[in-house]
Amino acid sequence: MSLPLSSNKDHWLECYKLTWDNRVCDRHVRFREWIEKEFEPQLVKTLSAGLGATGKPLCVLGIGSAEGNHEMLQLKKLKTKFAKLSTTVIEPNKQMFLQYQETVRQKSSDFTGIEFEWHNQTFQDYVQLYGVRKKYHFISMVHSIYYVGDSDLEETIRELYDILAPGGVILMVVMTDHTGIGKVVHTFPNLATKEQKSASSDPSMTKSNRLINSTDVTSILDKYKIVYTQSEYRESWDITACFTGVDTTKGNLLLDIHTQTINFKASVSTTVYSQVMDFLKDHMSVRKSHQSDEELCYFDTVSDILLITK
Ligand SMILES: C[S@@+](CC[C@H](N)C(=O)[O-])C[C@H]1O[C@@H](n2cnc3c(N)ncnc32)[C@H](O)[C@@H]1O
Repeated sequence: MSLPLSSNKDHWLECYKLTWDNRVCDRHVRFREWIEKEFEPQLVKTLSAGLGATGKPLCVLGIGSAEGNHEMLQLKKLKTKFAKLSTTVIEPNKQMFLQYQETVRQKSSDFTGIEFEWHNQTFQDYVQLYGVRKKYHFISMVHSIYYVGDSDLEETIRELYDILAPGGVILMVVMTDHTGIGKVVHTFPNLATKEQKSASSDPSMTKSNRLINSTDVTSILDKYKIVYTQSEYRESWDITACFTGVDTTKGNLLLDIHTQTINFKASVSTTVYSQVMDFLKDHMSVRKSHQSDEELCYFDTVSDILLITK
């Protein structure tokens, strides 16, 4: 029996931690580079042009903020232009939520002028409780739309647009369907079956291993004539451990991430397993590691960075 990765919070978290291991995946390095280079010219400038000098705090909303690592960098950039920020954090995972709060507490001097409002809940629960009355100037959604928009993406995008203040910007980072993880899931959409999805134990997470991709999002934005810009960044995963012929935790977790399926190797038929491994082989590239002269198997995923304006 195969279950979607996000139906088990603990297993998902174990996989997610691999994204923070620079030797395995450079997602965060690449995205931080984008923040360092592009956040000010592309976002801070647009926001200050759109909002002018009102003297009121800039209202920021983080959705699926995790431990806040990317959001804190973004807040730092916003602080250079806006003297006061009012930040709302929505993160349903308790462990990550507490970690974000703890970092803010420990580095309080970095956050002077920033007020935090904390919500340890899903975006869906937040909207149900508070509605869409409060408006935000900046909404940050980095790789969280998969979970937030899972049951009804169109409705979610309409809600997000509703809570965006005029002159505001939504930063949405979402994988494409034509590369890497997005392409595997797009090519093999039925790795976890419908019946098995209903066995999911965690209601805060998506029930599907069919990840939302950037085309899903942009087609809805186009339908509603919502204005956005699109750029991209590329992350590389070292998936060599999947091809050593030896079963390792790392190799198995990498397969689970790339198929969005829990215990992929043990839970699918040998035919499906071979098909997916052949697909990975056909689409990976063997190249030298940055850290050593070793030749490694890299599988690249491109994500779109959407800046949605109102
Ligand atoms: C891939 S992580 C992205 C983390 C972070 N935004 C970053 O920049 O690295 C996805 C996050 O979305 C959160 N999440 C899952 N379901 C959610 C929901 N329904 N509403 C809000 N956040 C959700 C997860 O707990 C997780 O922290």
